[in-house]
Amino acid sequence: MSLFIRLAQAADHAPLEALQRRASLSNAGDRGFLLEHPELIALPPEHIADGRVFLAEQGSGGTLLGFATLLPCDDDALALELDALFVEPSAWRLGVGRALLDHGCRLARGAGARSLRVLGNGHAEGFYRRCGFELLGHQAMRFGTALQMRLSLG
Ligand SMILES: CC(C)(COP(=O)(O)OP(=O)(O)OC[C@H]1O[C@@H](n2cnc3c(N)ncnc32)[C@H](O)[C@@H]1OP(=O)(O)O)[C@@H](O)C(=O)NCCC(=O)NCCS
Repeated sequence: MSLFIRLAQAADHAPLEALQRRASLSNAGDRGFLLEHPELIALPPEHIADGRVFLAEQGSGGTLLGFATLLPCDDDALALELDALFVEPSAWRLGVGRALLDHGCRLARGAGARSLRVLGNGHAEGFYRRCGFELLGHQAMRFGTALQMRLSLG
C-alpha cells in the first residue's frame, strides 16, 4: 500500500475524530463502556493546532487510514508520549500502525528524545510488543487498566 504521512490540519479534525471513534469501538472489550461514555473519544483540537498530530493517507490526498499524536512527557524531558494511535479498522494489519509509529520515532529522535512512552490499551499490547515496546507496569484508568510501555530510540 502506498502511504503518505503528513501533519494534520484543522480541517482534518472531524474525520480524524470519526476514525478514532470507529477504531476505539472496534476494540470489542471497550465497546459497551465507550458507547455509554462517548465523551471519552475525543481528539483535542489544540493537539492539531500545536502540530502534534500526523496522519496517514492512501497516497497524497487519498483515503484517511490512521493518525497519531506525540506529546511532551510530564516527568521525562528525554521522552515523548504517544498519546493517540488509531488506524481505520478496515486497514488493520496492513502496516499502517507501524508506519505511523516509525514516523513518530523519526520525529521524536529529531526532537532529541531517547524514548517513546505509551499508556497502551490492553487490546493493542500485541502490536506494541511486536513493534519493540517493553512493558513497564500497569495503571488503573477510568475504564480498565492501561499498560505503561516504553520504546527505546537508542
Ligand atoms: C493497535 C493498532 C494501532 C495497530 O495498527 P495496525 O495498522 O493494525 O498495525 P500494523 O499492521 O502496523 O502491525 C504491526 C505489527 O503488529 C502486529 N499486530 C497488530 N495488531 C496486533 C494485535 N492486536 N495483536 C498482536 N499483534 C498485532 C502485526 O501483525 C504486525 O506484525 P508484523 O510486523 O510481524 O507483521 C490498531 O489495531 C488500532 O487502531 N486499534 C484500535 C485503537 C487502539 O487500541 N489504539 C491503541 C491505543 S493505546
